[in-house]
Amino acid sequence: MDFYLDTADINQIKEIDKWGILRGVTTNPSIIAKTGRDYQEAVSEVLAIMGNRPVSVETLKDDAEVIVEQGKKYREWGNNVVVKVATTEEGLKALSELRKLGIPTNATLIFSLNQGILAAEAGANYISPFVGRLDDIGADGIGLVEDCVNYVEENGLDCKIISASLRSPQHLEESAKVGAHIATCPYSLLTKALKHPLNDIGLKAFLDDWEKAKKKLKK
Ligand code: G3P
Repeated sequence: MDFYLDTADINQIKEIDKWGILRGVTTNPSIIAKTGRDYQEAVSEVLAIMGNRPVSVETLKDDAEVIVEQGKKYREWGNNVVVKVATTEEGLKALSELRKLGIPTNATLIFSLNQGILAAEAGANYISPFVGRLDDIGADGIGLVEDCVNYVEENGLDCKIISASLRSPQHLEESAKVGAHIATCPYSLLTKALKHPLNDIGLKAFLDDWEKAKKKLKK
């Protein structure tokens, strides 16, 4: 499973990049708004840091023609842009048109298998089921990721499933277990996922034992 960061915070991207696991970034208008910066300016900095790794950049209107034009414009900002499109009727038209133009897309706001199938069949290169938002209303977010993975794999579609809207380390492990191709994570989730109390206790014991042994050796 590939790890993406769901952020536009440059410091978070630089930090996680040092871990050697960062394969891409996803953003959305709410994430960009949090930076307090101009849309293009915030996105361009992320694109530059990520080099040739994919960065999803969301379109800002529910109108197929406008989405396609915005998608073309975003691709001028960087050739690692993946155009993020909300899964609506207009979105499907835009996904299919962008596929014809060879512009990669990520179909977002996927809350049902029907939406996932339609977006994948329309030509989306990535689809993003929203796990946390489904779990928030008592639905089965991970179950949807699994169903989407099965559908694209059984039908041989050129479409990767991004497990999105992840809230907990459990979501991350479950995403891997059901075969999600990608998990996009907030920074706070990745740092939590690495933590384990037995790891902290074990490391402290190893270091303390070695300090004691060194003292004895000096005597
Ligand atoms: O970027 C899409 C998704 O990951 C949003 O997550 O936490 O706003 O539901 P969240």
